[in-house]
Amino acid sequence: MSATTYPNYSPGLQGVVAGITTISEIDVETSSLTYRGINVHELAEHAVFEETAYLLLMGKLPNKTELAEFKARISNESVLPKEVIEALKQCPKNMHPMDRLKTVYSMLGAFDPDYKADPIDHDANVRKAVRIVAKAGNAVAAAHRISEGLDPIAPDPELGIAGNFMYQLKGERPDEFVTKVMDASLTLYAEHGFNASTFASRVCVATLSDLYSGIVTGIGTLKGPLHGGANEEAMYMLMEIDKMGDAEKWTRDALANKKKIMGFGHREYRIGDSRAAYMTKLGKEIGQRVGDTHWGEIANTMEKIMWDEKKLFPNVDFPSAYAYYLLGIPIPLYTPIFVIARTTGWCAHMVEQLDNNRLIRPTCIYEGPKVTAFVPLDQR
Ligand code: ACO
Repeated sequence: MSATTYPNYSPGLQGVVAGITTISEIDVETSSLTYRGINVHELAEHAVFEETAYLLLMGKLPNKTELAEFKARISNESVLPKEVIEALKQCPKNMHPMDRLKTVYSMLGAFDPDYKADPIDHDANVRKAVRIVAKAGNAVAAAHRISEGLDPIAPDPELGIAGNFMYQLKGERPDEFVTKVMDASLTLYAEHGFNASTFASRVCVATLSDLYSGIVTGIGTLKGPLHGGANEEAMYMLMEIDKMGDAEKWTRDALANKKKIMGFGHREYRIGDSRAAYMTKLGKEIGQRVGDTHWGEIANTMEKIMWDEKKLFPNVDFPSAYAYYLLGIPIPLYTPIFVIARTTGWCAHMVEQLDNNRLIRPTCIYEGPKVTAFVPLDQR
């Protein structure tokens, strides 16, 4: 079976246009990414994550008053109901943090004051979106602390989403540099067109289901190592390479054995991932600050070989892995951090979908047995 046998079939839906959006644009020629027309590098450099969240959800950058009001709203909405905290305490010890997050969001839907709202009520959907985004950092930190037998830490109303996440994770306020890195990293991870998890969320709500169901769908889809799970896998890989002590040999052997190298390659980009360059800069900067540049050196070696041999480049998950490691964040939380950021993109897309909805239902090619007579049970 091949795409040439079926001219209208593109495996993995590669190149298939599945919708129209005004939220973000990926320019594969220049490897650039814009959110509502604004370059993501400028947002990462000059804006806090809440500005990006506002831009994605409300369609424009906030002015000072709007930003202050939005931050206050996020702060008010960030607290998790006690029932959700109790549920987190019941989760099995070995449950992956992404699965804990699915549990959190499937419960949160029923606590939302707009739970019963019409699924196509735009204003109710935006209100839900703000509540979903507001709780994500708290949910990741609380789920982690509870899984470690620790009490969750209440959010600090003085801190934004990035600062609060680090505070609620570790129990101490992060310094300005760490907060800036987290703000930038969340901004880079916030939105990326019709990627697998966003598309899955859109498919979910297009049935006139609800935003919380779409978030659970998104989390489940992001979890896989071919998508968001790659940042965790990339770090385990870097640790394996570090232990072996020869990045060049490891990479060449991996390629010779046709191994997938986590954190490299992308379905859309051809010459580089727009977000990876900025995240690499941050990762190296953190390395300089904490006096540990060796992850960046391993990365340089791998990047050179991957480009020379396969014309493959790092995606954003590769530098994010060692950046988070250097910030002392536990590895199983790397993909959940992606969720904190991507709740914004998922919600913006789900609202867009429901504002102009049509059921998403593609077709498939049947290659099973030809029509044959039914054989009754006692004659089989
Ligand atoms: N390591 C080694 N070879 C690779 C890699 C990689 N990371 N990525 C692609 N290739 C090779 C494939 O083996 C294949 O080679 P072949 O034609 O000789 O068989 C060719 O490149 C095409 O690869 P596909 O997997 O078919 O490309 P696709 O567009 O379907 O996949 C994907 C894109 C999933 C991102 C892929 O590059 C990959 O698996 N990367 C590793 C996982 C990863 O980093 N995922 C994160 C994506 S970014 C994000 O979600 C934020």
